[in-house]
Amino acid sequence: MSSVRKYFSSEIGDYVYISLALIIYAVGVTFFILPYEIATGGVTGICSLIYYATGFEVQNSYLIINAFLLVLAIKILGWKFCLKTIYGVLLLTLYLWILQRLIESQYGSLENLRLVGDQTFMAVVIGALCEGIALGISFTRNGSTGGTDIIAAVVNKFRDVSLGQILMILDLVIISSSYFVFVDRIGSVGAWQKIVFGVTVLVISGVTLDYVVNRNRQSVQFMIFSRNYRAIATKLNEKGFGVTVLDGMGWYTKTERKVIVVLVKKRNSLNIQRYIKQIDPYAFVSLSYVQGVYGEGFDLMKAKINQTKPTLVFATNNKHKLEEVMAIIGDQFEIRSLEEVGCRVEIPETSDTLQGNALQKAQFIKKYYGFDCFADDTGLICDALNGEPGVHTARYADVGGQGHDSQANMAKLLKNLSDKDDRSAHFQTSIALIYKGETIIFDGVVNGTIATEKHGDMGFGYDPIFIPEGYDRTFAELSSDIKNTISHRARAVQQLCEYLKKDTTSNAKQRRK
Ligand code: IMP
Repeated sequence: MSSVRKYFSSEIGDYVYISLALIIYAVGVTFFILPYEIATGGVTGICSLIYYATGFEVQNSYLIINAFLLVLAIKILGWKFCLKTIYGVLLLTLYLWILQRLIESQYGSLENLRLVGDQTFMAVVIGALCEGIALGISFTRNGSTGGTDIIAAVVNKFRDVSLGQILMILDLVIISSSYFVFVDRIGSVGAWQKIVFGVTVLVISGVTLDYVVNRNRQSVQFMIFSRNYRAIATKLNEKGFGVTVLDGMGWYTKTERKVIVVLVKKRNSLNIQRYIKQIDPYAFVSLSYVQGVYGEGFDLMKAKINQTKPTLVFATNNKHKLEEVMAIIGDQFEIRSLEEVGCRVEIPETSDTLQGNALQKAQFIKKYYGFDCFADDTGLICDALNGEPGVHTARYADVGGQGHDSQANMAKLLKNLSDKDDRSAHFQTSIALIYKGETIIFDGVVNGTIATEKHGDMGFGYDPIFIPEGYDRTFAELSSDIKNTISHRARAVQQLCEYLKKDTTSNAKQRRK
């Protein structure tokens, strides 16, 4: 199945599951919670209290309160978070309305519907189970019934408090306030009873919700010891499971053994056993529950770390360039090379401009490795040669090929300029930075002329034939201190650093405010 189709079928699946789950929720509330006047948490809890006190129908207050919360959520959390919540709120409003009309037409009013007679506690248990199951299914499908979920998600965006904690506090406040609704009507003891029932609903629905969510999340670990490990590992791989083969040793026989480790969702464990048994019915297999699995295809690690320095990847493995840049940027950023982020591929540079190449490299890193980053590209531009070597500077003597031969490059350039009077040229370094969602290009230029022959043995590349403006010696004859202050790269890096420093100082100021 193509990934687009997969995406849509899982999205449609989400909406189907959320729709079914909300039927269970609406049944629980209208058939068991409302007729027995049980105080519950969440916005539905607030709405039930309004209903018990004034008779104002639950779905109406539910829609009004959620409309307010949704406007807030769209502003703070964005549309993407809210789409399924809006769907959930509207559908639940509709279900509640339909069920109430249905009950009224059959029984006159909600209070006359007493499906479990006078056994209020039974109503509490059934109502809470319905709520827990419905919310559990809805959560696993990224759905939400709005209400206090929105408040919790908004608070969670700004403060490091868990969603569970926030919801628990909000629910306790809502349930406790039911005391004031009931105390005049049924006295203090009756009002306390309502609170106890309310808390019971909270606990049962919470435990049920966790059970449903975790049942779906529960992962298991297989360790498979088999002589036919290759066939088993290949089969599991073909079936789409991630497989790791470890080296082990059977200590009795002192022979090397391979151990296959597979982490999968619990629902796949019977299938895995089937695949193993088909290949090696005598395989030695251990199966255990794991507390959590974090990584691709599983959960994200929840622990927050106090990372003081932002990370920036410099798309290079050239140690000299790295040191040069780190020396200028200082220790406000954690600068990592390509190797340090595990990038060992040749990044394409197919643009016909230096800026385009730098951008292409930076975008490659951002896309495949996810880091904010910067990349550079340098060229020597000779006026008399219509900008040559330009983007071909590194491979001038071998355009299009793999050659990086500085001697051959310089020889070719000197030959091409031999009959030209105009020997003016400039080096340009373009740096593309992708940082906090913005893309910025910095250009550093050093003007000069191309000497008629090579002088000096310092530096690299075209240094022996490039005489920077204001000097009468080539880069290869100047000290690295001078070169590192006037060079094209130093100038581009300087601009990059100024930009980054400005950002970190303004952030620090904002944090102090
Ligand atoms: P890069 O984009 O930094 O790899 O530079 C491309 C090519 O330009 C290098 O292979 C060198 O031949 C040349 N080059 C870059 N910087 C310098 C420099 O500072 N001096 C001399 N040649 C340079």
